[in-house]
Amino acid sequence: MSRIDATAEKTDIIDLEQVRGLIADDMSLVNSLIETSLHSEVGLIDKLGHYIINSGGKRLRPVVVLLSARAFNYSGEQHINLAAIIEFIHTATLLHDDVVDASLLRRGQKTANQRWGNEASVLVGDFVYSRAFQMMVEINSMRVMEILSEATNTIAEGEVQQLINRHDPETSQASYLEVIRNKTAKLFEAAAQLGAVISDRTEQEEQSLAAYGRHLGTAFQLVDDVLDYSSSSDELGKNVGDDLAEGKPTLPLLYAMWNGSEKDSAIIRDAIENGGKEHIESITSSIHSTGAISYTAELARKESQLAAHALDKLPPSEYLDALYALARFSIERQF
Ligand code: IPE
Ligand code: IPE
Ligand code: MG
Ligand code: MG
Ligand code: MG
Repeated sequence: MSRIDATAEKTDIIDLEQVRGLIADDMSLVNSLIETSLHSEVGLIDKLGHYIINSGGKRLRPVVVLLSARAFNYSGEQHINLAAIIEFIHTATLLHDDVVDASLLRRGQKTANQRWGNEASVLVGDFVYSRAFQMMVEINSMRVMEILSEATNTIAEGEVQQLINRHDPETSQASYLEVIRNKTAKLFEAAAQLGAVISDRTEQEEQSLAAYGRHLGTAFQLVDDVLDYSSSSDELGKNVGDDLAEGKPTLPLLYAMWNGSEKDSAIIRDAIENGGKEHIESITSSIHSTGAISYTAELARKESQLAAHALDKLPPSEYLDALYALARFSIERQF
């Protein structure tokens, strides 16, 4: 039996709640640090900041940092700071993302831009980003700063590349994949790699964790793009169809355009070029009938397998099992 089969079996017995249980003490320290670090004397920052940070995000990236450090027997305290920093960077990107995507619902409640306006969201996003950098400086490690500043920079590039692809029906699968690697996978990569970095592990182990995070994050975004066409707003806590409304050429939509009937392809091409949800029903139905959902989900499954495979040579532990379980969750998730 290959290692992947074996891990598939092993991760069957660990669910997300058990993963969380393993690092519950660490996570409560992360949450306290998030709470205190968010504080500002400027009332609007405090209000908007707490609104988004306490709205029930999955905290997946901090979970990856903590598990990665624990998988290497890390015994210091920097993993707590790094987990909080990574969640801050994620939060800042979400504040900006909802403005860019004109989204109205996140985590089951109104987006910050919907409640306080675009200006406030962008500016508080800047505050959260720069607070993350202040916390990073406190860690006082050039290597950590290098990884996190590169990740943040790459996320910005990914978002701009996506903006360039918006309304472009000629977007290729390669270009789409590059966007999601940059805008989403890169932060997962940094999260996983940092656990190895602070544990002073070998370059090879660092790179294994980086690869794990990169594949996990790619699977995660592929599934996010599937859910935008196949879930419900109630389940997802975000409005479905946001990608279509924005004329965003995600893989499910592109695949349906490439493989649908002439008429359906023309409707999709027009929707990418002009945006809008007028034809969402017929488009969703061609996304299903062309097999675009299963095609994208299959790519996600492969990425999740590559993530698991990247862990092959690491010392066995329950934390490692939990990392395997996360790879599984990234493709099975419904929210
Ligand atoms: C949302 O990430 C943005 C994507 C990269 C798809 P999450 O799904 O991890 O968001 P929260 O933090 O749990 O709300
Ligand atoms: C992920 O993309 C956003 C970032 C990496 C900032 P989406 O735009 O698809 O994320 P959601 O669906 O709004 O959470
Ligand atoms: Mg968005
Ligand atoms: Mg977006
Ligand atoms: Mg999305």
